[in-house]
Amino acid sequence: MLNINIVLIGFMGSGKTLTSRELAKIFKRRTFSTDDLIQKKEKMKIKVIFEKKGEAYFRQQETKAVAQLAKKKNIIIDTGGGIVLNPLNIKRLQKTGILIYLKTSPEWILKRVSLNKKRPLMQVENPMARIKQLLKQRRDLYEKADLTVDTDAKTPKQTAKEIYALLNCHHYECCK
Ligand code: S3P
Repeated sequence: MLNINIVLIGFMGSGKTLTSRELAKIFKRRTFSTDDLIQKKEKMKIKVIFEKKGEAYFRQQETKAVAQLAKKKNIIIDTGGGIVLNPLNIKRLQKTGILIYLKTSPEWILKRVSLNKKRPLMQVENPMARIKQLLKQRRDLYEKADLTVDTDAKTPKQTAKEIYALLNCHHYECCK
């Protein structure tokens, strides 16, 4: 278990990216993001990929990014919120990592995502309705994670500390 990856899953605005950076400091590991990998490969921002090539193309690239990252060891993986939509992604991530669901209420998601315009799926008239609709589709998929941490009203640092404690007491040995 020593080399097991720590994989963060959860909805947009659940704090995956910032929490992964805090975890990287605590565990002295590198962090990789599926979104970053896609943006580097495509030389385009996620928003532009959605506009120019469509969501289906983005999802294909996401699956390729997962395949690449799941081969690594001893890293933190920050996934895009839609990673759970393809069961193959979950299967691959589970093979080499422990999946942690950052659970966040629609109210907190809205607070966090309304701060920036980079998320194509949130550029709608009624973001709250969109959040609830997508959460309804995805909630059961997120719940398949090995561990769940509530992130409402927490800073990424607090969430990361909670994950550290959870992994320790579950004897996952990531902390050694
Ligand atoms: C998406 C989440 C985004 C990004 C893309 C699609 C989704 O990542 O992958 O905009 O379908 O939930 P974050 O969860 O990091 O915002």
